[in-house]
Amino acid sequence: MTKVSSLDVALIRKDFPILDREVNGNPLVYLDNAATSQTPRQVIDAIVDYYSNYNANIHRGVHTLSQEATDKYEQARIKIQKHFNAAHSHEIIFTSGTTHSINLVANGFTSILQKGDELLVSAMEHHSNIVPWQMLCERTGALLKVIPMNEEGDLILEEYHKLLSAKTKMVFCNHVSNALGTINNIKEIIDAAHGFGAAVLIDGAQAAPHIQADVQDLNVDFYTVSAHKMCGPTGVGILYGKEEWLNRLPPYQGGGEMIAEVTFEKTTYADLPHKFEAGTPNICGGIAFGAALDYMNNIGIAEIASYENELLQYATERLLTIEGLRIYGTSKNKTSVISFNIDGIHPYDIGSILDKLGIAVRTGHHCAQPIMDFYKIPGTVRASFSFYNTKEEINALVEGIKRAKAMLS
Ligand code: ALA
Repeated sequence: MTKVSSLDVALIRKDFPILDREVNGNPLVYLDNAATSQTPRQVIDAIVDYYSNYNANIHRGVHTLSQEATDKYEQARIKIQKHFNAAHSHEIIFTSGTTHSINLVANGFTSILQKGDELLVSAMEHHSNIVPWQMLCERTGALLKVIPMNEEGDLILEEYHKLLSAKTKMVFCNHVSNALGTINNIKEIIDAAHGFGAAVLIDGAQAAPHIQADVQDLNVDFYTVSAHKMCGPTGVGILYGKEEWLNRLPPYQGGGEMIAEVTFEKTTYADLPHKFEAGTPNICGGIAFGAALDYMNNIGIAEIASYENELLQYATERLLTIEGLRIYGTSKNKTSVISFNIDGIHPYDIGSILDKLGIAVRTGHHCAQPIMDFYKIPGTVRASFSFYNTKEEINALVEGIKRAKAMLS
């Protein structure tokens, strides 16, 4: 089993019960971490503890269980604030995940934008960072323009600078591309946008498991994260927003808990963060997100990134020994994601054979159809590695692909 200087991967793997299971009679080799990461025992325990000991609605009851749940939920918010170095805990809005976070902001800008305003979106976005802005454009008459990318899968920043103007009101970009793994130079993107007074939303869903983002240092206006990409449960995430922006945006949804006072004549809204948290939230999910951050920070994000980079280099070298295999996304700055195709073979067929061997990868357009259109392909096979993966698993992937190739050629 792999033992790397700073990470004891064999020990870490013991924290993940699912890694012991078999799939189709073979040991599971889980390489679909960009879709969702696996869950360590410590996070599972936090979920069991919540439902076993203090399941109650928050911010509502005077009773002990409600207070305990409220305290734990708000402690999780503070953990998240500290992790991303937000100035205030009320700048952390709990959502169901990145898609919800982006829709919340897009909805809020409806009353701010005007016909003819311009929004810039990068060419390598997930659909969740394209479609809400197209819907916003339909509502407001604003125009969506695209920051182009090159063959390596890097954004062409010279073109970005040319697109910026006094008409630019917002810029959207992922920190890391889910389909290519490219780490974008978001600092340059944010600074340049601010030079024109535009607000910037960065989709951090794929970055947060690998990169320590500091929202104050980045000076970003909005940053979005999904817990399930970083050892937490599905259905919970956050929107970080600068206080002045969150105060300016109207609420996204109306309901309980987001109000100060309701009469049939007029309703006034609660202060941040509650203004954006209508309805009973995913209480257990928020608390478990906090436990997931504790788990990852205990290992260390920098140590995780360094080990995953080692896996990326190893896998890239090994995969390129397979004749006819092409990797999409060859930026010098990448996380541990490898999208590839093999000449003449449909990605779905490779994925299906790998599954028979117990190897989980994602196939298809990865909710990033414009990237597939750019490369003129229907989709790719995507292997994405996490800190609990090993070089032995990468060897299994390489052997599996060779077998699939022999069967399908
Ligand atoms: N956005 C996730 C992925 O890239 C689901 O697979």
